[in-house]
Amino acid sequence: MRALHVLVTVFTAFAAYYVYSPLPSTMSEPWKLMLLDATFRCAQDLSNLAHYFGFTHHLRVLNFISSYFDKLDPVSSRHLKVIDTVFDGVEVRIFEPTKEHGERLKKSVIYIHGGGWALGSAKMRSYDSLCRKISEDVNAVVVAIEYRLVPDVHFPEQLNDALTATKYYLRPEVLAEYSADPSRIAVSGDSAGGNLAAAVCQQLAEDGNIKTKVKLQALIYPVLQVLDFNTPSYQQNMDMPILSRFVMIKFWLDYLNGSQSFAHSLLVNNHTSLDQSETVFVQELLNWNLLLPSSFKKSYQPVIQSKGSPQIVKELPALLDSRASPLIAHKQTLQLLPKTYILTCEHDVLRDDGTMYAIRLENAGIDVTHAHFKDGFHGCMIFATWPTYFSVGAKTRDDYIKWLNDNL
Ligand SMILES: *[C@@H]1O[C@H](CO)[C@@H](O)[C@H](O)[C@H]1NC(C)=O
Ligand SMILES: *[C@@H]1O[C@H](CO)[C@@H](O)[C@H](O)[C@H]1NC(C)=O
Repeated sequence: MRALHVLVTVFTAFAAYYVYSPLPSTMSEPWKLMLLDATFRCAQDLSNLAHYFGFTHHLRVLNFISSYFDKLDPVSSRHLKVIDTVFDGVEVRIFEPTKEHGERLKKSVIYIHGGGWALGSAKMRSYDSLCRKISEDVNAVVVAIEYRLVPDVHFPEQLNDALTATKYYLRPEVLAEYSADPSRIAVSGDSAGGNLAAAVCQQLAEDGNIKTKVKLQALIYPVLQVLDFNTPSYQQNMDMPILSRFVMIKFWLDYLNGSQSFAHSLLVNNHTSLDQSETVFVQELLNWNLLLPSSFKKSYQPVIQSKGSPQIVKELPALLDSRASPLIAHKQTLQLLPKTYILTCEHDVLRDDGTMYAIRLENAGIDVTHAHFKDGFHGCMIFATWPTYFSVGAKTRDDYIKWLNDNL
């Protein structure tokens, strides 16, 4: 009896330690978020353990767990036809509204899911239900791209998949097949999918061969740069659920196929030190002291090393590639981009990535709506349905869908 008592106490203490992480009072539903975060950390720890013992890559374990519990077959409903198909070699899930609305052509939203270029799927319950909601509420054909993931492929293959599927859909004969209006197409994505969506829009804008122009881009807490891990939001939210700064750096290194041993150098911005001429031009484009409002900068100081680790950029030239970091594209490229919606959350390491992009786009003359949520956390928009419902999840999703409805 006594032993059981001790065991229960130890277990409870351990569970409380595992679950409890102090959160700011402005955060939406902190206890629920702690539980969600603990679930993720538990899955991560299990997969790291499997990786450590040499069973398989930790990301494969995580993906196995999530797809085992969470992948759905395409299910049509009274208002939606849902099918899985292939666009030029890339898998896609398509949601087509079936409501009668005369001869009018339909709007389209191309959706790219998040998950650090390594996790997630258009077939997951959360993304499937988000795409259904967009399709029904906006009355649009939604093309959700099932691009390949780390560790099967690395940069730029995820982007190439997204671009290939998008270009295929933009062909006049394919648009005609879906009764889609070529003048009412949006490209959208969240987190790493927002990174891919931003890069897809830049690539399309620069490609003179593509006659169909995208009307809108909508980026949900996007990842936009790999050069400064000490922006005010990276400093302020370095341990915030569900995405810490260190986990974001590890996702980047996996995406760019770089050694994880670089992680600690990236943390202190050693990869963009001043003793490297290649990175100096980038620092001008990313100068958050000039770009961010003082309510975001607070008293945070830039972290700029005079001496760093130049071998990192030599080994990983993709660190300076705007296809990986759309935030460092030149103004001439930004000027070609469509009307933009950018959603950011206060409690998110990526708040300043999105905010700086909004400001650079505005400076380039683009019409930008920047929706900032003070109680939001990274990833909240896909937590808008049972059993992981957050009021800020529903609030961000509804704001995003309203913008699409008003502008597409
Ligand atoms: C990724 O890096 C590993 C180890 O450096 C290398 O063997 C492999 O060929 C790289 N993969 C790609 C797709 O570049
Ligand atoms: C950053 O670079 C400096 C100069 O090369 C080096 O002394 C330091 O150890 C590096 N820090 C990390 C965390 O790699």
